Amino acid sequence: MSEYFEAVAARAVDLTKVYGEGENVVHALAGVTIDFRAGEFTAIMGPSGSGKSTLMHCLAGLDAATGGSVQVGGTELTSLSDKQMTELRRDRIGFVFQAFNLVPTLTALENITLPLDIAGRKPDEQWMNAVIDRLGLRQRLDHRPTELSGGQQQRVACARALVGRPEIVFGDEPTGNLDSRSGAEVLSILRAAVDDYRQTVVIVTHDPRAASYADRVVFLADGRIVDEMRGPTAELVAEKLIHLDELVAR
Ligand SMILES: Nc1ncnc2c1ncn2[C@@H]1O[C@H](COP(=O)(O)OP(=O)(O)O)[C@@H](O)[C@H]1O
Ligand SMILES: [Mg+2]
Repeated sequence: MSEYFEAVAARAVDLTKVYGEGENVVHALAGVTIDFRAGEFTAIMGPSGSGKSTLMHCLAGLDAATGGSVQVGGTELTSLSDKQMTELRRDRIGFVFQAFNLVPTLTALENITLPLDIAGRKPDEQWMNAVIDRLGLRQRLDHRPTELSGGQQQRVACARALVGRPEIVFGDEPTGNLDSRSGAEVLSILRAAVDDYRQTVVIVTHDPRAASYADRVVFLADGRIVDEMRGPTAELVAEKLIHLDELVAR
């Protein structure tokens, strides 16, 4: 039994999230139960407004659910104090969110190592160098965010999320603002983190090609999980999305 629980990096059970009230009530999550296995790369897809970001924020402890439970590595998030939650996010979770800005006064390298510096941990030099090189950031380490393109900033955010090798990395459309080449670099480093270091990765994406890097694709519609695919290809995912849109349009 313990082996089973160890193998689950994150879990949501009957997760609900309600925004607003009365006529304005929105059931952003209407009872989501899902496991994310350790060492697996999952992509979450679904129409706009289907609850993808809400699910991601609840899983990552950035937002509190209305009901249900979230566990990260066996820790129940709802039982944590604010301080414990902050520490869990800092020590055990990596984020690549579009809204997660870099610190403007710090260089790229300082941004990358910031979470480790705060936690008083030393980076694994070999892994840090691999991440920096694979993301093409070697020549940019002394630059501040304003001296970097959007794609480069996103790659710095990606390096920052990966460098401490957290138990799980969450990305909300991590390639959304990137050209296809930068996007492919980000996805291949996430893939390598999973394959070579048993990292667990969960991303939200609209792009079937991005989803094809994952081991598993989970489809959300109207705050519910409606389907799942293993070993996705871009073609199969694109086809599924068309059916999903038809389902929601009805
Ligand atoms: N802060 C909020 N206040 C009210 N409604 C919200 C808020 N955030 C999200 N929603 C609503 O919840 C639903 C799910 O949103 P979201 O999780 O952002 O979807 P997605 O990421 O799939 O586009 C949408 O109907 C959205 O309008
Ligand atoms: Mg979203």
